[in-house]
Amino acid sequence: MATDWQQLSRDVEALLKEARRQVIAKMHQTLTVDEKTGRKDLVTNVDKGNEQFLIRAIRQLDPQAQVLGEEGFGDNVTSVKGRLWIVDPIDGTMNFVKQRDNFAMMIGIYQDGVGQLGFIYDVMNDVLYHGGPQLGGVWANQQQLGAPADLALADGLIGMSSPLVIKDVAHTQAIVHASAGMRVYGSAGIEMINIMLGKTLGYISYLKPWDFAAGQVLLNTLGVRTSTIDGQPLDMLSSNLVLVATKQAQRDILQIEEDDVSL
Ligand code: IPD
Ligand code: CA
Ligand code: CA
Ligand code: CA
Repeated sequence: MATDWQQLSRDVEALLKEARRQVIAKMHQTLTVDEKTGRKDLVTNVDKGNEQFLIRAIRQLDPQAQVLGEEGFGDNVTSVKGRLWIVDPIDGTMNFVKQRDNFAMMIGIYQDGVGQLGFIYDVMNDVLYHGGPQLGGVWANQQQLGAPADLALADGLIGMSSPLVIKDVAHTQAIVHASAGMRVYGSAGIEMINIMLGKTLGYISYLKPWDFAAGQVLLNTLGVRTSTIDGQPLDMLSSNLVLVATKQAQRDILQIEEDDVSL
């Protein structure tokens, strides 16, 4: 049966609103915080509980689909064939733990590897960004967003994750130098939102599929490019050094990579 994408989108919006209510309620209780690979890689009971809640609901909405979730409650996905849901239950867990702010929930829906719908929920501001090619646009709650200005690198701010810049991976220091300035928000989802709103012109970070799946759908719908730092398509099943940028800034950044410049 053909998918009713409008209905599916409404169902996911309702699901995420319920998930938000539950997460906010749990924020008034004591968090259980564990380290995954180290002290800068945290997971809480809320990350795990929310992923379980979302995936249970997704299985009811779309029983044939595969689901990839960060905390491991989904399927062991080895192929992007068919429908694939990619879930990040709390993006920006460090912010969630330390700030109780600046974190997001994210869901991307792909069909045979092609993005169809994306959802990023800025939880504390209660703004749900949703859209994709199946809806023909992107909305912040009920308000449709226009495409951000196609700024050149020199004319805007760029988001980065700090370890990349500290270690100068992929000439990130030269890229920051060529931009109007660097910002670090600590959540890939919040970074993607800032690009959609034209507050920054791009973002460079080493990311897993759940960090970029939703944002890629939304940003591509608004004419913003997503690629690896070498300009190649992102692999939806592994880590990538991700470059998100306006068309002009992407060209500028790929040129810096090619010229192999240092400061
Ligand atoms: C992390 C955040 C962070 C980014 C990391 C991600 P998580 O996601 O998006 O900003 O720099 O690479 O892993 O683990 O908090 O969902
Ligand atoms: Ca994590
Ligand atoms: Ca994440
Ligand atoms: Ca997460």
